[in-house]
Amino acid sequence: MRVHVVDHPLINHKLTYLRDKGTDTPTFRRLTDELVTLLAYEATRDVRVSPREIETPVAPATGIKLATPWPLVVPILRAGLGMLDGMMRMVPTAEVGFLGMERNEETFEATTYAHRLPNDLDKRQCYVLDPMLATGGTLAAAIHYLVELGADDITVITLLAAPEGLEALQEKVKDITPPITLVTGAVDERLNENGYIVPGLGDAGDRLYGVV
Ligand code: URA
Repeated sequence: MRVHVVDHPLINHKLTYLRDKGTDTPTFRRLTDELVTLLAYEATRDVRVSPREIETPVAPATGIKLATPWPLVVPILRAGLGMLDGMMRMVPTAEVGFLGMERNEETFEATTYAHRLPNDLDKRQCYVLDPMLATGGTLAAAIHYLVELGADDITVITLLAAPEGLEALQEKVKDITPPITLVTGAVDERLNENGYIVPGLGDAGDRLYGVV
């Protein structure tokens, strides 16, 4: 798995406000949205393109357009939904599939409780959205699921990652043939005993959508 930590002052600035427990929900949502657009810029560096012939007012020219089949964006419910608009703004022709996964708060095991994806992901480039790479269990399960459906290139975008989760995810996807890339805004210090990233930002789903 290729790992790209996007070290940029704008990202660090926005992450600092996002982490602050005094940041209210509307601001948290807006910052998440803005961060995703910045991360998407890096994450789509290898998005597939094909040539496009155009006429400028001056001369014919060959440019590029996004290739078909369109990329598939897969937010992991529920917190990944907060990243969807920011991603779609950058890649408006992408299709969207949904994967509902939750982790057992005692064992940290990930289970799938909902999915709405094309049956066949053959030759599809997929972009998986989940704000927090904590233990790596949820993302590993999501990646395996997409590869079983035929995805042949997967990029995961997270706002934050824990070193333990990064290592675990590397291990869990090491035998997968299609290229896997992780793009993240920062790698934090550690995971605590409750599976929270430290210093992190708390529960991303709760901060985006309220406590349920
Ligand atoms: N999920 C979250 O929302 N926050 C964490 O710190 C870890 C997992």
